[in-house]
Amino acid sequence: MAGVLVGLSFCAASRAADQPPPAKAPLSASPPAGAENADIIKAGERAFRLHCRSCHAVGNKAVSRKGPTLNGVTGQKAAQAQDFKFSDALQKSGLVWTEKNFVDYNMNPQRMLAGTSKKMPVIKDEKILKDIYLYLQQF
Ligand code: HEC
Repeated sequence: MAGVLVGLSFCAASRAADQPPPAKAPLSASPPAGAENADIIKAGERAFRLHCRSCHAVGNKAVSRKGPTLNGVTGQKAAQAQDFKFSDALQKSGLVWTEKNFVDYNMNPQRMLAGTSKKMPVIKDEKILKDIYLYLQQF
């Protein structure tokens, strides 16, 4: 019995670690490339609404509220929104919002950047933050 269980969990573990690359979609399939990303973006949008939108806005009509607007933030230098008073710490940080910096900062703002005016970690799940990063690349 124990042997069976061990066998099963071994199988599951090796499958997770060793997933085959997603099959190429045939040319005729719709939607083609990017279908997987579309799901991630949807998940990112949901998480953004739930965890970030109370302070941050995106889109054409976005204005800064408790937090700065996040239009164009991905890949950009920190503290660029014109209508928000950023902390000195963020303005002088020289940070660029690569995916890694974005995840590190949001997992624990104060640990990554002492003095930032964002006090609390909002999400501690790296995967969800990566989904949000992909979602924000649209703005
Ligand atoms: C309680 C309000 C609040 C919530 C919720 C919040 N933030 Fe923030 N965020 C801020 C504040 C305030 C700043 C500005 C920090 C500073 O100036 O030091 C900020 C800054 C940022 C920045 C840097 C912006 C720039 O222009 O450099 C990013 C990126 C960011 N937040 C992403 C997120 C994401 C993603 C979420 C959801 C997971 C989130 N924030 C949730 C308040 C919040």
